[in-house]
Amino acid sequence: MRLFLAIPLSPAFAAGLERTVAALRRPGDGLRWTSADSWHITLQFLGNASAEQYGCLLARLPEVHASPVSIRLESFGCFERSGVLIAAIAASPELASLVKRVQSATAVCGFLPEARPFQPHITLARARGRDRALRMLAAKLPAQPGLAAFEASEFLLYESHLGSSGARYEVRAWFPLAG
Ligand code: 2AM
Repeated sequence: MRLFLAIPLSPAFAAGLERTVAALRRPGDGLRWTSADSWHITLQFLGNASAEQYGCLLARLPEVHASPVSIRLESFGCFERSGVLIAAIAASPELASLVKRVQSATAVCGFLPEARPFQPHITLARARGRDRALRMLAAKLPAQPGLAAFEASEFLLYESHLGSSGARYEVRAWFPLAG
């Protein structure tokens, strides 16, 4: 099974972001827009896991103790290397500390943290090779998106099912952030 750990968005935060993004979408724009109900902030992508590793995660992740984390929308932009339009989330010390704790728990189950720096984000659209189109879209979005924020009180273990029309995410387990 292909797994990742992520923070789900609050309904109000997702609805606000959806309104902002909807203004940019054009039929036939050739971009693969992600649907609001699949939006999340990945803490760690785990990739393929054995049944044993899955059991290990279910045993270890409840031991991650952290307080609720404040999630704030910081800006819009692109990851040009991978052709994605993103909503960037502020990399607060609290969020970074949660990621470290999650990584320590998953390391026991044989998962290595990613080498690249953690850049918390929500993927809004994908368009490999369309860097210019993505940059133009990002430029139309507000540079400072106001005070969109919420308090995350849980993180989730998702299974990603890859299909011809994109990935479908299934929630496998819930872990509270309760201090
Ligand atoms: P992305 O949205 O920026 O692509 C499920 O695939 C989640 O894990 C997505 O949020 C994805 O981020 C993230 N992820 C991180 N590293 C990944 C990788 N190597 N392959 C696929 N998804 C990855």
